[in-house]
Amino acid sequence: MRKTVIVIVSIGLMLFAACKKQTSSEQTLIDNKVDSVLKLMTLEEKIGQLSLYTSDMDQTGAFIRKEYIQDIKQGKVGAIFNAYGAAYTRKLQAMAMNTRMRIPLLFGYDVIHGHRTIFPVPLAEASSWDLGAIELSARVAATEAAAEGLHWTFAPMCDIARDPRWGRVVEGAGEDPFLGSLIAKARVQGFQGSDLSAVNTVAACVKHFAAYGAAQAGRDYHSVDMSERMLRETYLAPYKAAIDAGAVTVMSSFNDLNGIPATANHFLMTEILRNEWNFKGFVVTDYTSIMELMFHGVAADTAQASEMSINAGIDMDMQSGFYNQALEKLVKENKVSEKTIDEAVRRILKVKFQLGLFDDPYRYCNEEREKTTLMKPEFLEAAREVARKSIVLLKNDNNLLPISKQTKNIAVIGTLADNKREMIGSWSAAGNWTKSISLLEGIKASAPQANVLYAKGCNIADDSTQYFAEALNVAKKSDVVILAIGEAAYMSGEAASRSSLDLPGVQLQLVQKIHELGKPVVVVLMNGRPLTINWIGEKIPAILETWFLGTQAGNAIADVLFGDYNPSGKLPITFPRAVGQIPIYYCMKNTGRPMDVNNKYTSKYLDISNEPLYPFGFGLSYTTFEYGEPMLNKKEMTEAEVLTVSIDVKNTGKYKGEEVVQLYIRDLVASVARPVKELKAFQKIELEAGQSKTVTFEISSKELSFYRADMSFGVEKGKFILMIGSNSRDTKNIDFMLN
Ligand code: BGC
Repeated sequence: MRKTVIVIVSIGLMLFAACKKQTSSEQTLIDNKVDSVLKLMTLEEKIGQLSLYTSDMDQTGAFIRKEYIQDIKQGKVGAIFNAYGAAYTRKLQAMAMNTRMRIPLLFGYDVIHGHRTIFPVPLAEASSWDLGAIELSARVAATEAAAEGLHWTFAPMCDIARDPRWGRVVEGAGEDPFLGSLIAKARVQGFQGSDLSAVNTVAACVKHFAAYGAAQAGRDYHSVDMSERMLRETYLAPYKAAIDAGAVTVMSSFNDLNGIPATANHFLMTEILRNEWNFKGFVVTDYTSIMELMFHGVAADTAQASEMSINAGIDMDMQSGFYNQALEKLVKENKVSEKTIDEAVRRILKVKFQLGLFDDPYRYCNEEREKTTLMKPEFLEAAREVARKSIVLLKNDNNLLPISKQTKNIAVIGTLADNKREMIGSWSAAGNWTKSISLLEGIKASAPQANVLYAKGCNIADDSTQYFAEALNVAKKSDVVILAIGEAAYMSGEAASRSSLDLPGVQLQLVQKIHELGKPVVVVLMNGRPLTINWIGEKIPAILETWFLGTQAGNAIADVLFGDYNPSGKLPITFPRAVGQIPIYYCMKNTGRPMDVNNKYTSKYLDISNEPLYPFGFGLSYTTFEYGEPMLNKKEMTEAEVLTVSIDVKNTGKYKGEEVVQLYIRDLVASVARPVKELKAFQKIELEAGQSKTVTFEISSKELSFYRADMSFGVEKGKFILMIGSNSRDTKNIDFMLN
């Protein structure tokens, strides 16, 4: 364990050694260089810079433009995505170097949770509440990607998601704007370091701007209709945090927001992004989004769609090819000004300069570096460490876990158990699933003396019970049963919405049959979203939520199963009891008729409780933590002052463990109804068995501010409640006055 920590710290030092801050005079120098290039360009060449096409090496959308090679040769492309590898990117870059202007191509790719060494899916990483670990994951991903010729990742996804039917919840940081913002920042720092020109950093792309995660009914690409209050209070925060952390590009989302598709949305792309937030980088669309303006029904043809997009503030056209077709004519007709085009080109060239591509267009295409960088042992070790931090222990009755390594017969059952393919989850970039560690392999390596018996039990999604008998047989012979169940990787991610959150296929039936045997059963869940697992939650004594943990999944889960690592993850998203509760999230409002079980006319259901199955922030440990009472340094504060609240946390169990101490705040009376609680701070602490620590938080006007009735941002005097605890439900409370 100690060894791992040292390895990770040294990776951190090594990776950050190359980073330096860009000074303002360096920035001015880049601006001047950009202008000097721009001056030499024809209108056609400028428009070319505004196009991004996929190569046919990989496919992340339905439509591929076959002529992209000719486009590069004719200087009609600014960037290429889905192309990687030092040799291949060098080949394409050489074509761009043969054009009149010799402007280097930018190579982008969806490096979402690792490039070759695959880390846990983003929702899993968010469960670690460990910003250092999340930054490290992005740092390793950037290092590998940059060694394969890539300059630009389409990450982080900063979409708040409160509807687990939406498959893309897996790509984000969950439901909360505060946690989501910190994670967005950590990811940008990890990808970009502090020097974009270093050869181990890549440009980040904040996506999908904006509010894509609020797709109606959880159906991907669906419309979003929300108040400006909701947009600003909840959805915008993580994008803003990523931009404040220095992200140099933004991607527009597929959805319409209150009727205006994001890709034609001047309010989002110009008023908020540029005017309010002072964003200086460039905005790219999502896949064919400009073309899709016609399907949204806001543009009649190529020309109108292009005009709307560029005038809204969209700089780069991903994959529609509309800018190349329409912009020149639109400029001649005075529908788009050349100044607008220049501005867009300037932003794109600036990023190319920042990456150092004008100094040496091939600096990321170094085959030697590629060979020595990918999947290094220390990267695999980092992936294992981040993976075990991402695991959430949902239940552990009578301390069934950890399992003793001396256990004689261990049954490992479930189609996800002897499975490498699903471990790397969706959007696993250039990850090679054959290199991942299955749960079965991890268990065998961790408990070499045990007799490990495996049975598949059932397939993930069909109705066949033909493998049940074998699984029951194996279970009967064992002292403990480990059941790996959940979803296939393809069931979450893009275009993977589900109307049911139940376990697919006959997996629940299998669990029930095995439970009848009376053996101790541990359920290991693998899934890309919260699932409705009420029966399992009630009957099965031990449950681990492992999401999809990446290349090192099997080792990381085994580390937790056998107690080599004490789980510390916390849910970044609420687990509902039923789809009918959605949207369900911890920071709801109180309503005028808060739930009262004895009063029918209150806000509740006839057939189910309001309570989730597992609340936001929830996660157990092999040890136990006892919280004392919160203590304030004073009972009153003014807007200019800082108040401190402290709480003693004691490890009352037998193991050393980590705990995420969470602080929530409620503004009791305000000019608008405020949520019943909002996460405002947390600290992850480690305690030896028996050890206590005093955890202290500072509260200033920053934590108490909100969008008031007139939409101005600030505080209002009055009473506040502070809630501190192990999750969003179980807290110790104290109040104070803001005068
Ligand atoms: C996705 C984006 C992704 C893009 C490029 C789109 O379909 O929505 O998240 O970055 O494809 O692959």
